[in-house]
Amino acid sequence: MQQKILEYLNNKEDYISGDAISSRLGISRQALWKHIQELRDAGYDIEAVPHLGYRLKACPDRLFDYEVSRGLRTKILGKTIYYFDSLASTMHEALKLGLAGAQEGTVIFAETQTKGKGRLGRVWSSPKYKGIYMSLILRPKIEPSQASVLTLLAAISACQAIKNICSLDVQVKWPNDLLAENKKLGGILTELNAETDRVDFVDIGMGLNVNNEKKTLPEGGASLKEITGKDIDRVELARELLRQLEADYLLFQHKGAVPIIEKSKELSMTLGRRVKVHTSKDNYEGEALDIDTDGGLVLRDNSGINVKITAGDVMHCR
Ligand code: BTN
Repeated sequence: MQQKILEYLNNKEDYISGDAISSRLGISRQALWKHIQELRDAGYDIEAVPHLGYRLKACPDRLFDYEVSRGLRTKILGKTIYYFDSLASTMHEALKLGLAGAQEGTVIFAETQTKGKGRLGRVWSSPKYKGIYMSLILRPKIEPSQASVLTLLAAISACQAIKNICSLDVQVKWPNDLLAENKKLGGILTELNAETDRVDFVDIGMGLNVNNEKKTLPEGGASLKEITGKDIDRVELARELLRQLEADYLLFQHKGAVPIIEKSKELSMTLGRRVKVHTSKDNYEGEALDIDTDGGLVLRDNSGINVKITAGDVMHCR
C-alpha cells in the first residue's frame, strides 16, 4: 500500500488531496494518514497542508526495493529485490535464497553487513547507508570453469554504471578490484553452487564505497564521494548497476565470453604490467600478458614461461 501511495505522490509535483488518494486506493482517510506516518518514519519528507493535501518533498537515501525498482525497466535482473536494513552478509542470504529456488535475477541489498565477506577470507567493511552492498543470483547455462567470466562481467558493468552516474573512469585490477586514482572503490565476490559439469546458480556479490568518509575507509580504499567531491545518489547508482549488469549478461548469453573478455581487457589496469601474484599453491612474478577466454590471467614469468592463473591476489609492481 505504501508503494502505491508513493506512486501517486511521485507522479504529482503539486499537492494531491487525501480524499483523492484514499478513494482511488479504496482506504479510509485514517488508514491513509497511518501509512503516511509510516512513510515519514522511513524517511520520506511528506508535507501535509490542510485543504490542499499531500506533497512529496524528498525521498530518503535508502535502497528500498520499490525505490530501486522505480523506472528500472530491466527484463531479468531486479524483478525480485530483497531489502534489509542489516544482514550478516548478502552472500549468506543469496545462498539461502538460491538453494530455495529463487528466480534468476533476484537481488539482495543490505544497508550494512555485520560480516561482510571479501575475497580470500577478508572482511568487507560495510558502514551503514554509505555504500552499496548487494548480491545477485544468476542461473547461467555454463560449465563451472566459465564462472570466472561472470566476475569480469560484473566488474565491467560496475565501471560503466559508475561512468554513467558519476562521470568517473574506473579500471579493473584483475580479477575483481575496481580502482580509481589507484585506490580501491569496490570489489566483486563470486560464489558458485555447482555440480561437476553444471552450474546450478552463481551468487555475484558487489561492494562499492559510495558516500563513505575518508576516515572510515580501509587503507588503500577510496569512495566515489571522496574522489568526485560529490554526494552520490545510491538509488540511482544501484539502478544503473542493475541495468548494466543485465545488458552485459544478455551479451554474454547471446555472444559468449569473447565480448566480455574484450571489454575487460580494455578496462584492465593489470595487462602489460609487471605483477606479483599469490595463489593458494604458488607465488609468481612476471608480466601480465593476456586474459584468456575463461577469464584467467596469462602471465609470462621471469623464466619466460607462460603461466595461466585462474584465481589469485595480484600486486602491481609498477
Ligand atoms: C573483494 O574485493 O574482496 C570482494 C568484496 C565483495 C563485497 C561484497 S559486499 C556485498 C556482498 N556481500 C558480502 O559479504 N560480500 C559481497
